Amino acid sequence: MTKPSLPKKGTSPEAVLEQLQAHRGQDVDWKGGRTFSLVYYAGERVMQLLHDAYSMFMAENGLSPMAFPSLKQMENEVVAMTADMLHGGEPAAGSMTSGGTESIFMAMKTAREWSRKHRPHVAKPKIIAPVSAHPAFVKSAHYLDMQIEFTPLGGDWRADPEAMKAAIDDDTAILVGSAVCYPYGVVDPIEEIAALADERGLLMHVDGCLGGFMLPFVGKLGYEVPVWDFRAKGVTSISADVHKYGYAAKGASTVTYRDAELRKLQFYAYPDWPGGIYVTPTLAGARPGGAVAAAWAVMHHLGEEGYLKLAEAAMDATSQIKAGIESIDGLRIMGDPHMTVFAFDSEEVDVFTLGSKMDERGWHLDRNQFPSALHMMVTPAHADLVDELVSDLKAAMQEAREAPAGAAEGMAALYGAAAAMPDRGAVSEFAIGFMDQLYTIS
Ligand SMILES: Cc1ncc(COP(=O)(O)O)c(C=O)c1O
Repeated sequence: MTKPSLPKKGTSPEAVLEQLQAHRGQDVDWKGGRTFSLVYYAGERVMQLLHDAYSMFMAENGLSPMAFPSLKQMENEVVAMTADMLHGGEPAAGSMTSGGTESIFMAMKTAREWSRKHRPHVAKPKIIAPVSAHPAFVKSAHYLDMQIEFTPLGGDWRADPEAMKAAIDDDTAILVGSAVCYPYGVVDPIEEIAALADERGLLMHVDGCLGGFMLPFVGKLGYEVPVWDFRAKGVTSISADVHKYGYAAKGASTVTYRDAELRKLQFYAYPDWPGGIYVTPTLAGARPGGAVAAAWAVMHHLGEEGYLKLAEAAMDATSQIKAGIESIDGLRIMGDPHMTVFAFDSEEVDVFTLGSKMDERGWHLDRNQFPSALHMMVTPAHADLVDELVSDLKAAMQEAREAPAGAAEGMAALYGAAAAMPDRGAVSEFAIGFMDQLYTIS
């Protein structure tokens, strides 16, 4: 295929939109509820609102809060509403970012600046995180020239505070816990980790990217949720994504600090540019107004009442799916997940083969490694599909049981092989090569 170049002549908006529609043909059917990640769908009414709000502010640029006080106000309100949900109190202050990764990056940058200010002798400030923490932490350490030490989990798949305590040294700037972590959907022992940070005069970040817009409502519905937010003494920052269980359009997350002094360390200013004094709160330069407006709109539209209803629907669907899984011989839920995210594994069959058998039935379950497991994030979009899902899982389990040992093929074989390779550098190289191919027109 020849590489496309800019068309000499334009095409009508109608024809372009038709082409766009055709491009979607191969995409996963997220509205049909057959995927368990990437899209958080709260129904057509919410979708339409996001669409309208996003379009209304699509051209506006949050880079200049002076030019667009509307965006400044909406951002401040999204952050304030989130901080309130997280029990941040009056002094809490934060920013909106493009997503969980940027929120985590900003919190780690803040920790680096904090370390430079208070411990100038430390060359490479250290992050201590449980192995279940999102890769955004190790990616941040890589970009920010920080160290990261991963600590093992306890038997319940939650962070082990004792292991974290043992990892603290003179270089340490910040401890991390998740609420909830992606792989197992559990809330780490945040109060204990935060107490440790407080005792040692360190920072502590809670990754609430997944749970930030779910756990407050899950708790209010009467489920048991351990204290994980600013109520825990010693928590100094929290990331919470509006574009996950907040049901906003993509490009909307928050990072909140216990006080505005800490947030200042996140900001960046370059006073010497010929183009003028440059100052930004987050990593981005231009900041899409649409994402801010859509987040503001959905939070106002749903309100606590709407979020409670959605949380209830997702929690009910989760309980039914978990019960269905546990009713199948040979499958088990890992640990005791606190909300709608969980993993399950099997001592009887190769779970990656089971995953492939589900793929053949049109379901896409995500894959965990170390140990191998299948992974689900349940949303209200799954509520009507529980019976079909469980019955397909039963049939797939039977087929996986009958598959001869070592018979894994295709993606199952690939996942299995990648998990078993001791040379992780080679796996990274392979993954980067794969990505390079994906983004190469041939
Ligand atoms: C626990 C957790 N933290 C952070 C992130 C990163 O969020 P994003 O993909 O929006 O950058 C994710 C993404 O799934 C997550 O599950």
